[in-house]
Amino acid sequence: MGSYTMIDIHAHIYPGIDDGSSGMEESLHMVQTAAESGVTAIVATPHCNLPGYYGNYRDAAWERGLAELADCVRTAGMPVRILPGMEICGTEGLTDLLRDGRIIGLNRTNYVLTEFLFREDPVRIYHWIGELRRAGYRPVLAHPERYAYVQEDIRLVYDWYDMGCVLQLNKGSILGRFGRDACDTAWRLLDEGLAGCVASDAHSAQVRTTDLSEVRDVLAQRLAPEEARRLLTENPERLLSGEEIPRR
Ligand SMILES: [Fe+2]
Repeated sequence: MGSYTMIDIHAHIYPGIDDGSSGMEESLHMVQTAAESGVTAIVATPHCNLPGYYGNYRDAAWERGLAELADCVRTAGMPVRILPGMEICGTEGLTDLLRDGRIIGLNRTNYVLTEFLFREDPVRIYHWIGELRRAGYRPVLAHPERYAYVQEDIRLVYDWYDMGCVLQLNKGSILGRFGRDACDTAWRLLDEGLAGCVASDAHSAQVRTTDLSEVRDVLAQRLAPEEARRLLTENPERLLSGEEIPRR
């Protein structure tokens, strides 16, 4: 199965601030696993703006923590670039937070990695997506296939795609690790060519890892090698440089 480098735009490798990596040692382990699977750049995307759980808004300490991670990776000699990002929970006021620099897009671009509560009202999601789009941002929807409201009515995610969102699927959904419904929904979006990219959404060194080689091989086999490369390398590269993603 063709081996080429990959870029992971969604991974909880920032040490010790959310339910991902517990500390620097685990972060380095996660980066090592990614490197061995062929990943050359990872966006550190801790949960932020998640009501009742994590604020993790950008400030000097947030930037220092990220720089420290990048330094440790460099010192350890791992050939992986660590880039800034956040997995932002959809709430009221996202555009103000973005404008004030309290939350940031992927690699500080206008591509905003956004997740929603599992029990969110889809009407509010439409509203937030519209607000972001009018302000010039491009939402990258984290794992839409995992939400019950999307699994029950896939037209929602078609609408969000038509509104200019990029759909980021989780490797775990594609591999069947989040249940049948998430898997079926993910494959439907893949088969119809609506998925914009695939990422690890890694949370630890042991389960939900940063290894992307298995999902690359499955995508290459079931779709096509070029399609795997589009989802794991080419489109992630475009996101990081703020370039347009070709639409189907
Ligand atoms: Fe995540």
